[in-house]
Amino acid sequence: MISILAQAQTKGISLPEGASTYSEQVDWLWNYLTYVSVFFTVVIAGLMVLFVLRFPRKHPDDQPHGHTHNTALEVTWTIIPLIIVMSIFLWGFRGFLDMATPPSNSYEVLVTGFKWGWNFTYPNGATADELHVPVDKPIKLILESKDVIHSFYVPAFRIKKDVVPGRYNQTWFEVDGKKNNITFENPTKEYDLFCAEYCGLNHSRMVSKVILHTPESFSSWLEKASDQGAGLTPVEYGAKLYKSKTCAQCHSLNGSKLIGPSFLNNYGYPVELKDGSAPIVDENFIRQAIVQPNSHGIKGYQPVMPAIPLSDQEVTALVTFIKAQSDKYQPEGGEATA
Ligand code: CUA
Repeated sequence: MISILAQAQTKGISLPEGASTYSEQVDWLWNYLTYVSVFFTVVIAGLMVLFVLRFPRKHPDDQPHGHTHNTALEVTWTIIPLIIVMSIFLWGFRGFLDMATPPSNSYEVLVTGFKWGWNFTYPNGATADELHVPVDKPIKLILESKDVIHSFYVPAFRIKKDVVPGRYNQTWFEVDGKKNNITFENPTKEYDLFCAEYCGLNHSRMVSKVILHTPESFSSWLEKASDQGAGLTPVEYGAKLYKSKTCAQCHSLNGSKLIGPSFLNNYGYPVELKDGSAPIVDENFIRQAIVQPNSHGIKGYQPVMPAIPLSDQEVTALVTFIKAQSDKYQPEGGEATA
């Protein structure tokens, strides 16, 4: 039985292969719980079936024997489960404390969850939409939410932590580079990262990656990430942000209406507002729409735009990118007004 379950686990019916330093401990406890549960289910269900078959009531006048209690039996079935339950508690609590206490030499990354994506901020101010970290170094994550409750979940690391608005949660992990075969020849390795708390429309698309690096590969990545707009025109940088900051989930570039207005015929065209006015979209309109979502009250759209964490430089690049989309617009029977 145990070998079948162990096999099932390595073949991926259960969780993916563990990659963090404490994943083994989590798996041991998980297996222990599973085996204990399977054992008692089989014993109890087996005895029930056995007793039904072995001791049926043969005559309507049959009465049960007059046993009232059996001290030895009662003590046994109290003490054994107590020991098992206490062992689960102590083992689990020990692990919980380990996982809740980041080592003091940890490298710190700020994780921001928002509808519907992830943003990672590094000590030097660099940001990314995927979590890049070095191996062989404890990584402390400070978790915050811009809007609703999300949950940071990396199955391979056995990490799951709620990301709650209005407070900072923390968690940590460390990955052994040698064990995971992250070496000079294979300097990076990717793992899936999910949101594990239902958070609205695009919850299922709130996925990202954790990318493990050797220390050398990580420092060169960080250097590049610190200057993301480098070598790009503002429009190119904006195009990159349009994808990475999840604008693309709700705003098309081809004129089709998604959750939000398309960026194709946006800049330079009038937009109908709920108050009855129809201003022409200019730079200020776009900027305000990004930094104070839903403040205009555009007619025909729900006020569901989330506040996306963006630096000033990023907002500028996005405004430039959105402006540039209007150049591609060919209105039927008319010229652009700007
Ligand atoms: Cu965020 Cu589900």
